[in-house]
Amino acid sequence: MTRTIVLAFVFALAGFAAGHWYTKQGTPAREADAARVAASYEGGFRADRESAAAVGERLASGSITAVAGTPGEHEIVVADGESIQEAVKRAAPGTVIRVRPGTYHETVYIDKDAIRLVGVIEQGRRPVLDGHGKLNDAVLYSGNGIVVENFTITRYKGNGIMGQAGNNFEIRNNLIIDTGVYGIFPQLGKNGIVEHNVLSGIEDAAIYIGMSDNIHVAHNVVFENVAGIEIENSRHAIVENNHVYDNTGGILAFITPGLPIKTTSDVIIRNNFVMRNNHPNFGAPGSIVAGIPAGTGILVMAADDVVIEDNIVSDHKTAGILIVDHTNAANLTVDPESDPNPDRVAILDNVMFRNGYDTIPEVKALMLSGLQRGEPDIVRVGPGAGSCILNRARYVTVGLDDFGVCGFGNTDATVTYLLPPVPPRVIEPGERGKIAYLGICSGCHIYGGRMVGPPVQAIQALYMDDPQALADYIANPVRKRDDYPEMPPQDYLDPETRLAVAKYMLEVRN
Ligand code: HEC
Repeated sequence: MTRTIVLAFVFALAGFAAGHWYTKQGTPAREADAARVAASYEGGFRADRESAAAVGERLASGSITAVAGTPGEHEIVVADGESIQEAVKRAAPGTVIRVRPGTYHETVYIDKDAIRLVGVIEQGRRPVLDGHGKLNDAVLYSGNGIVVENFTITRYKGNGIMGQAGNNFEIRNNLIIDTGVYGIFPQLGKNGIVEHNVLSGIEDAAIYIGMSDNIHVAHNVVFENVAGIEIENSRHAIVENNHVYDNTGGILAFITPGLPIKTTSDVIIRNNFVMRNNHPNFGAPGSIVAGIPAGTGILVMAADDVVIEDNIVSDHKTAGILIVDHTNAANLTVDPESDPNPDRVAILDNVMFRNGYDTIPEVKALMLSGLQRGEPDIVRVGPGAGSCILNRARYVTVGLDDFGVCGFGNTDATVTYLLPPVPPRVIEPGERGKIAYLGICSGCHIYGGRMVGPPVQAIQALYMDDPQALADYIANPVRKRDDYPEMPPQDYLDPETRLAVAKYMLEVRN
């Protein structure tokens, strides 16, 4: 990546010298930064350029927006009153399960490959997955090549659609309203599309890309959540053409310390409407998103190689774009294995107005110390190297003194980071327990205190030398404590993973 930027910068100087004030399409450059006329961003993707270009071409031509492969021949139709889970149990890999309009009260576990869960929409009526405020998750998948589309999902407590280590997924055209902690949450997935969904009323992140690679998040409408779209501990993600408004924070690219995957890089955030994300923060106390200051349009925390281009970012009281390292962020413990600084952030041209009009005291202090006035569109706090901005005079900025002028003016050359279907992810047996624990259990159990479930310490005392008994319990939990809700069954995890996570839970010490 660094090399590409250096090269592009050389071209920029050459173009400048020759007086070519034109972009590569021959349209006049919009503004004065000579670099704007330069090459397009080609950073970020290494593995297999050719196949990426092929997928990109198809995406651009509108002929395919698919990574899950072609649908199989088998089809099962689920009618109102029947069970979707029963259909999944019967389905051979490659089956298309068509769910007719109606209301379904269940959690659907998909632990096989190439299942397409497709809602049938008739006269605007969709199948509704309704958790009644009692069920935890609507759809949980661990297979590869999974498609979930055309559903309404509402009133679940945990996840709308969650994936665990499934590759080549497509989550499309779902309405996920007033449901739980995460709306769409692919975790440890590679090569996935999240598009044309509507998400609202989610307590943590509406679209949460966790520990994943090669992801495309596009054309979603995301409003009145705590975090709108979150790219966390993930690489090679494009977030484009979304409408993100009235959340606490709009679009976030960051590293959460303490997870088994330690980096976030190569994130392109472009052509989004990011507006009025001033919603009071209603995230669970102590969670990372609870530390997001209300009124943040785009947040970059410790992530590297993030490009922010052609977004409309308006009406945020704290800042339009906030760039921060780990040591200056709230609610965090620094992870010695993660680089805490955001490096090589590139802010290309964006339209920004009415931001920073009622910012947080930390930012005010920063402005004061720099004798700066005005209401900041872009705020950078803490260290980080190699970042750049185009046409900085357009915005009120704070803390960007060491940002250079970008050596590229657009990201047109990077249409997508998606790939043709990739092989399933192999999780090393030794990692299985830890990953399941951090990804699933730690949402409800913390070591020393009460969260949704009892403290891990108390569980350790109960099960000390008997991980198998713990593993059996989580497959089929029975109600034990009057002052706690029921624990949702984890029987979608295979027996080996249940035992691994049980062992891990008995070992953790903080
Ligand atoms: C959605 C929240 C939630 C998630 C996720 C969750 N738990 Fe629980 N867990 C609970 C609650 C609530 C209880 C208390 C249930 C009760 O006492 O009736 C509980 C209780 C337990 C117990 C106590 C059993 C006993 O005999 O007292 C164990 C062990 C346990 N959970 C393990 C796990 C493991 C391992 C995971 C991850 C695979 C996990 N839990 C994920 C909510 C959750």
